[in-house]
Amino acid sequence: MKMTFKKTLGMLGTAMVLGLVLAGCGNKNADNSVKKIQDKKTLVVGTSADYAPFEFPIMQNGKKKIVGYDMMIAQKIADDLGVKLKIENTEFPSLISELKNNKIDLIMAGMVSTNERKKAVAFSKSYYTVENVLLVQKKDANNFNRVSDVKGKQIGAQQTTTQESIAKSQLKGSNVVTEGVLTGLTTELSQGKLSGVVVENEIANNYIRQHPDKYAIAKVKLTTPKDQRSVNIAARKSDKALIKRVNKQITKLEKSGELDKMFKKAEDLQAKSSD
Ligand code: ARG
Repeated sequence: MKMTFKKTLGMLGTAMVLGLVLAGCGNKNADNSVKKIQDKKTLVVGTSADYAPFEFPIMQNGKKKIVGYDMMIAQKIADDLGVKLKIENTEFPSLISELKNNKIDLIMAGMVSTNERKKAVAFSKSYYTVENVLLVQKKDANNFNRVSDVKGKQIGAQQTTTQESIAKSQLKGSNVVTEGVLTGLTTELSQGKLSGVVVENEIANNYIRQHPDKYAIAKVKLTTPKDQRSVNIAARKSDKALIKRVNKQITKLEKSGELDKMFKKAEDLQAKSSD
């Protein structure tokens, strides 16, 4: 077949345009965040394992293992991607920078999707809802009924959490003490070094279930701002394909009723394992 110069040019042009269009589509619909994880065969999830039943350590065959509701969901996501799960345990305040510095792929740490954090990371759909309470010693169960009762008292809250901002803005007149690890604060509460610790309801319930003689929820009412109620998984903003995949998994677990079951299972696991 004889090709004219004009025809050849025309075909080349069409091929080029087609190529550009295809390349464009690829970029728009899929980043390589999922592929990257599959290539390294591991999903790295960052957490702060001081937050039962969401994440906490247990001893298994003489080895420390991090388990909990978040970790069960993390395992499902890793299974869906066909990769191994690696858990990176660190203090809550460093999680967002670890994510931004590519040290971890996702944050699963009972983290709520505040407007402030939304500027820095992308969040999945919500998989749990929380509100805040003041955890006190059992003997003080009826001593903190209104904000004026905490005046001059030492109140704990984990650093950089929504509990820190709630304690500072709502428990006016108290001295808010912050630490990177929540369990340090609750120990101090049990020793009477703190009068109360602001925590989320499920965390408080968990402490009370473990030690009904030690802890109670105070009557003072705290307000949980709307943007501080939904617990979500965080990913880098650029990792759109990964978020999409994560959302699909959450929807699936939600619909099948597995999310509820896993939460219950995490609570039972904690009840059995702890001191
Ligand atoms: N939900 C609160 C927040 O996002 C506290 C989360 C603390 N998580 C933890 N694993 N210690 O600020």
